[in-house]
Amino acid sequence: MRKANIASVGCGAVAKRWHLPTIAELTKRGDLNFIAVCDTDEAKASETGEQYGVPHYTDVEQMLDKHKDIDVVDICTGDYEHHKVAKIAAERKMHPMVEKPMAPTLPCCDVIINSAKQNGVHFEVAENYFRMPNDRILIKLITEGVLGDIMRVHFIEPSGRGRQFVHGSGKPQGIARPVSTFGSHSGVCIDMGVHRMSQLRFYAQSEPKRIAGITKQFLLNTERVYEDWGHAIVDFESGAVGIYEASQVGEETIRYSQVMGTKGVMTNANYWTSDFPIRAIVNGEMQDIPIERERHTVDGVDVLSRIVVHTDPQIVYENPFREYAIDDWNVGTAEEIMSIANAALHDHEPEYGLNGRKDVEMCIALYESSLGGMTPVDLPITEITNYEGMVNDDYREAFGHDLVLL
Ligand SMILES: NC(=O)c1ccc[n+]([C@@H]2O[C@H](COP(=O)([O-])OP(=O)(O)OC[C@H]3O[C@@H](n4cnc5c(N)ncnc54)[C@H](O)[C@@H]3O)[C@@H](O)[C@H]2O)c1
Repeated sequence: MRKANIASVGCGAVAKRWHLPTIAELTKRGDLNFIAVCDTDEAKASETGEQYGVPHYTDVEQMLDKHKDIDVVDICTGDYEHHKVAKIAAERKMHPMVEKPMAPTLPCCDVIINSAKQNGVHFEVAENYFRMPNDRILIKLITEGVLGDIMRVHFIEPSGRGRQFVHGSGKPQGIARPVSTFGSHSGVCIDMGVHRMSQLRFYAQSEPKRIAGITKQFLLNTERVYEDWGHAIVDFESGAVGIYEASQVGEETIRYSQVMGTKGVMTNANYWTSDFPIRAIVNGEMQDIPIERERHTVDGVDVLSRIVVHTDPQIVYENPFREYAIDDWNVGTAEEIMSIANAALHDHEPEYGLNGRKDVEMCIALYESSLGGMTPVDLPITEITNYEGMVNDDYREAFGHDLVLL
């Protein structure tokens, strides 16, 4: 059976830690052919090429023109480059996958969508959280009705990131205008926000109809001059309510997520770990539902075999990569890579695709609401928002041209 030929663009932190080792493992196990890597930074490109035994490039067009048999282009560049590189790939009839957020504005997302459509290729967004084992089983429990009708979904995400204290005047600034320095990552409400909006939609099993939000920059930071705190309240079509709070201010405390339904509740006091106690109504009484994880070792890596939730009947998650040296986190990475690889080979829709745009849209609604003094923003967004205009203006000032080149 033919395997997809894959090339990787951007050899920075996320590629090094997750994408490249996963592509290498999938190649070793016979699922992919690893063709080449590219980074505009020559040192990173050559080091990565040597490490994985593939040719390296500093210019993406040169790489794609040299290796015309590439099927999939895995794009791990910074947020403001995703749409540009994806368009270059699509124009060569290659199928792009971009890291999250899909792009910083909706017109940039539409560059990816339209260039894929015009060139008859598929695209994927590397949203990884819902593809990880813990989220897969939790979403299965929700769709099987174990928690009943979902009423409330919560995500509280404080991460201090070493910025513990207010400096400068010693008073919090509370600046409401989000600004970006156009590094690899955008502000926290879209950087982490897209992950959490995705999860809120999965957990609520519904689409948002309205969002109110507030963002603030409390701490002065000349390197990352965008918001460091944000809060959103999401009104879902089903009637469920979503609460999202992100913070990079102060001490890192416990992250907390909760899904509350008419029949039960799941509380995860630290969703980086594998514990998420579930309590559900059994025979009229709220009870703890035991969860069992079976694990084994592959080439020295601790691998999840399956998760069994002892409901009646049992609900089971089988790890599709249990034969691979892939840890729980990278099950998400492997799933997203194989999603676009299979879409490319078999001409079907990838698993997430357009959903990546919905997550960006929710984050933009949060920013827009904040700019409008917390006025709720209705979804879908049908016109260019003030927030997107502001991002484009700042980008033009920094680079001398618009973010989307027509
Ligand atoms: N899914 C996740 O959990 C997760 C986690 C962290 C980061 N990310 C996302 O991954 C992306 C990369 O983040 P990072 O932390 O690895 O950033 P990074 O700065 O470490 O790496 C980005 C790399 O891309 C290269 N690059 C930039 N433009 C390029 C171009 N046009 N052609 C080739 N190379 C180019 C840079 O030289 C750099 O080496 C961001 O979009 C970020 O939001 C996702």
